[in-house]
Amino acid sequence: MQLQFRNDPIERIPAGAVVLGILEGTKRPSGAARAIDASAGGVIAACLAQGDFTGRRDQVVVLYAKGRARAKRIVLVGLGAEKDLTVERVRQAAGRAATRARELGVDDMASVVHGAGAGGLDPAAAAQALVEGTMLANYTYDRYRTRDKSKSKRVKTLIVAEADARRMPEVKRGAMRGKVGAEAVSFVRDLCNTPSLDMTPRQVAERALTLADKEARITVKALEENELKRLKMGSFLGVAKGSDEPPRLLVLEYTPAGKPTGAVALVGKGITFDSGGISLKPAEGMEKMKYDMSGAAAVLGVFHALKRVQPSVRVIGLAPMTENMPGGHAIKPGDVLIAMNGMTIEVNNTDAEGRLVLADGINYAKRFYKPDAIIDIATLTGAVVIALGGQASGVMGNDTKLMTRVKDASDRSGERVWELPTWPEYGDLMKSDVADLKNSAGREAGTIAGAMFLAPFAEGTPWVHMDIAGTAWNDKDKPYAPKGSSGVAVRLLLDLLENWERYGKPRRG
Ligand code: BES
Ligand code: MN
Ligand code: ZN
Repeated sequence: MQLQFRNDPIERIPAGAVVLGILEGTKRPSGAARAIDASAGGVIAACLAQGDFTGRRDQVVVLYAKGRARAKRIVLVGLGAEKDLTVERVRQAAGRAATRARELGVDDMASVVHGAGAGGLDPAAAAQALVEGTMLANYTYDRYRTRDKSKSKRVKTLIVAEADARRMPEVKRGAMRGKVGAEAVSFVRDLCNTPSLDMTPRQVAERALTLADKEARITVKALEENELKRLKMGSFLGVAKGSDEPPRLLVLEYTPAGKPTGAVALVGKGITFDSGGISLKPAEGMEKMKYDMSGAAAVLGVFHALKRVQPSVRVIGLAPMTENMPGGHAIKPGDVLIAMNGMTIEVNNTDAEGRLVLADGINYAKRFYKPDAIIDIATLTGAVVIALGGQASGVMGNDTKLMTRVKDASDRSGERVWELPTWPEYGDLMKSDVADLKNSAGREAGTIAGAMFLAPFAEGTPWVHMDIAGTAWNDKDKPYAPKGSSGVAVRLLLDLLENWERYGKPRRG
C-alpha cells in the first residue's frame, strides 16, 4: 500500500472513501466531520440524528455524499468512549474502516489521524497505529487462488490528512514507522500461511538470506546439518531425524551504527510442520501445524524491519528450522538426546519438539554471543490456547526487569501478553528418572512446564519465553488481522528493541 500525506482540510481531498472516527455518544458532527458534512449535503448529521450510528467501538457505516463533496463515500467508524480512547483503539478502528473500504473496492482512501487532535493521543503514535491498522487489515493471502479473485481486492493508497502543519512532521514519522512494521508483519504472515510443502527449512533459509543488507549492517547465515553435528546440537538434530527435509539453523545479526547499548538474542521456534512425530497428532486440525514456525518467522520479521528501524541495540536472531515427522529414522519415546551444552533429555513425547529445538537455539546464543537478554518466541503449547485463547500470548521468565520491558512494549504495540509463574517447584515437573530432564510433563500446567524445561538452558542470562500458540493464528477475522496467520510478536519485539536504551542495562541474574 502506498502512503500519501496531505496538509489540507480533509473535505478538500478527493478519494474513493474518506474515513472519519466518531467517539461514542456523538450527537452532531464536529471538527473534520462537520466540515465534510457541510460539503456533503448533511448526510452525517442525518445519520447521527437517527441514532443508527452511535460511535460504539468497531461500528462502521458507509454514507454516500450528496452536494459538492470531493470524496465518493464517507466511512464512519466508531472509536468507542472518549475515556477509553487508546492507540490500540485507533489501530482497530482503522482496521475496521479499511476492511469495509476494501470490500467495496475502494482504491484510494483518505483518513484523518484518529485521536491525534482533540483526542489527546501522541500524534506520531496515533499515525503509526492508523497506518498499521489500515495496512494489516488490507492483507490477503492469495498465492493459490486462481479463480475467484473477489477476496483479493485491496486498497491501493492511504492518504493521511493532517490539517495542522505543525503536527505534520510527527504524523509523517509515525506513519512511515507504521508502514515498516506492517510490511514486516505481512512478510511473516506470508511465511506462516504458506503450506509446509512450499515452506521447507531450506525454503525459509532462502527467504532469510534475502534479508542480509550490508548498508543496514545485517548479516544472515544458514547453518547446514554437518555444521550442526559438529556443534553437537543433539537436541535440535534429534527432532530433525524423522524428516527427509534437512534442517537449517538460521543465524541473523544486526549491528547498530554507533556503540551498541546492549545485545539481545531472539530465538524462534521454526517447525515448518508439526505432525507430532512418533507421538503422532490426531488428524483433526493437523493442517494448521504449518504455522508451528511462527516464532522463527517473527524473528525474521523483526530483521525485515531492522533495515529501516535501526535501534541502538545489537540484535541476534536464531531460528532452528526443521519438520517434526514420524519417518523411519525418527526419535522414539524413551530416547535420550544430548543437547549442545551437554545436558541429557529423555524424550517421553516426541510432540513436545519445540522445546528441544529451542534448547539448542538458546545454547548457541549463550555460547557465541553472551547476550544481555534472551527472548524466545514459540507456538509451544496447546495449553496456552486453553488458558488465554487468542487474546494474549503467555509470557514467563527469570528476570523482572526484562519482563517489564516486554510488558511495556506490549502496552505500546497492542500485542497483549499475560504472565504465568515460574516458581521453582514447577521445575520438578520436568525431572526425569533416567536423564537430566524429560521433555513432557503431560497435561499438568502445560504452558509453565514448557518454560520450566527451557529455564535451565537460559540460566544465568535474563530471559523471557513467549508462548504464541494461541495468538499466532486466527480462526476468525479480527479488526486488523484477517483469518490465518497473524504475524504476532513482530510489533512488540520491534518496540522493545527501539526503546532498549530508555531503560537501564538489565542486571545479569
Ligand atoms: N506445536 C504444538 C503446540 C500447539 C498446539 C501449537 C496447538 C498451536 C496449536 C507443540 O509442539 C505441541 O505439540 N505441544 C504439546 C506438548 C505436550 C506433548 C507436552 C501440546 O501442547 O500438546
Ligand atoms: Mn508438537
Ligand atoms: Zn510444535
